[in-house]
Amino acid sequence: MYNILTLNSISEVGLNKLEPEKFAVSGEMANPDGIILRSYEMKDMELPEKLAGVARAGAGTNNIPIDKCSEKGIVVFNTPGANANAVKELVLTGIFLSSRKIVAGIEWAKELKGKENVDKLVEKGKGQFTGPEIKGKKLGVIGLGAIGVLVANAAVALGMEVYGYDPYLSVDAAWNLSSDVIKAASMEALVAECDYITIHVPLNDNTRGMYNKELFAATKKGTRLLNFARGGLVDTEALKTALADGTITEYITDFPDGEVIELENVICIPHLGASTPESEDNCAEMAAIELKQYLEYGIIKNSVNFPNCDAPYTGKARIALLHKNVSGMVGAITNILSADALNIDNMVNKSKGAWAYTLIDLDTFGGKADKLVEELGKIEGICRVRIVQEA
Ligand SMILES: NC(=O)c1ccc[n+]([C@@H]2O[C@H](COP(=O)([O-])OP(=O)(O)OC[C@H]3O[C@@H](n4cnc5c(N)ncnc54)[C@H](O)[C@@H]3O)[C@@H](O)[C@H]2O)c1
Repeated sequence: MYNILTLNSISEVGLNKLEPEKFAVSGEMANPDGIILRSYEMKDMELPEKLAGVARAGAGTNNIPIDKCSEKGIVVFNTPGANANAVKELVLTGIFLSSRKIVAGIEWAKELKGKENVDKLVEKGKGQFTGPEIKGKKLGVIGLGAIGVLVANAAVALGMEVYGYDPYLSVDAAWNLSSDVIKAASMEALVAECDYITIHVPLNDNTRGMYNKELFAATKKGTRLLNFARGGLVDTEALKTALADGTITEYITDFPDGEVIELENVICIPHLGASTPESEDNCAEMAAIELKQYLEYGIIKNSVNFPNCDAPYTGKARIALLHKNVSGMVGAITNILSADALNIDNMVNKSKGAWAYTLIDLDTFGGKADKLVEELGKIEGICRVRIVQEA
């Protein structure tokens, strides 16, 4: 029986993936094997002794003490792409909002409340809210990951001519991307060509302020810019100039701040990108499955600190070792196994940055499982040894 502690309320759709005969799930649990959470701040929490995995239902993991978890051999998971459809739908909404002056029109219509002949006033005043159709227009998508690919494909289906830019495009994304999406030679070439631009890259030291003065200078006049990724990707001072000189006619953002909310021709959405019940269900389901697969079989998928490891379980004795990514580790491990006359049926060794994971299937533990945990645990650089399946 595995004990799972939930630190936030987690959708039933996810928790239902944890069979009650194998998993005890509760919001209060003294020494859990696993934790599922959303935004609960774990940084000041003492990590329970038995804790083997932490699954974040969502993408951001800055509420989790990743380094501390790595040192203790605790695998931290997140759920990339689980909210991609929710964001895609809001981006499509944003494209229409940026075109058709819908928000301004609705605001104006509210002012007609209580007036006489509203229908006549509507017909008389509607001309000021004309806006172009998107069919046949050019959309540039910067960042073709889980969200960018869905946006690009949907825009193709809506009749737009879509350009994409992503120098680190993954093989999976390439498989999923419509062949109608045109590859832009550079970000500058993309912004010079397109009528609408949407950003879908993560915010990090390389991308902070990426839409800067130079990129706005390369941007086609009258562009509509959408930012459903992170506020910090667009340089606010440069944006102000671009709005003032007509480079950008409309900026749609899911990340308003005190400065941006004051600007003209900006539509501010209060970070609603992933705010759908389906997205919460998807995140919870993915988090629960990741944790379950790891606890039961040692399989790692979507970890932010340890490498992915998908070794199907074939019914043997399985042991998992979480360790530093240093030379000589595999030799040190196999020496101990051979000294105990234990035969390796299968072994996977993978690394991710400073950390590594070794998953070993043995014909049998030969009654030496506890001794093995003790001996392997003494190897310099090993953070945790876990008997996954006794077989
Ligand atoms: N509005 C919201 O509520 C909401 C919800 C989810 C995610 N997001 C944001 O959207 C971002 C994208 O999410 P995702 O799930 O598509 O992530 P993802 O990791 O699947 O995709 C990101 C893509 O950006 C690309 N990339 C990285 N640096 C780049 C660069 N300099 N130029 C061009 N491409 C670059 C990567 O190669 C990758 O393909 C997230 O990082 C997050 O900040 C916002």
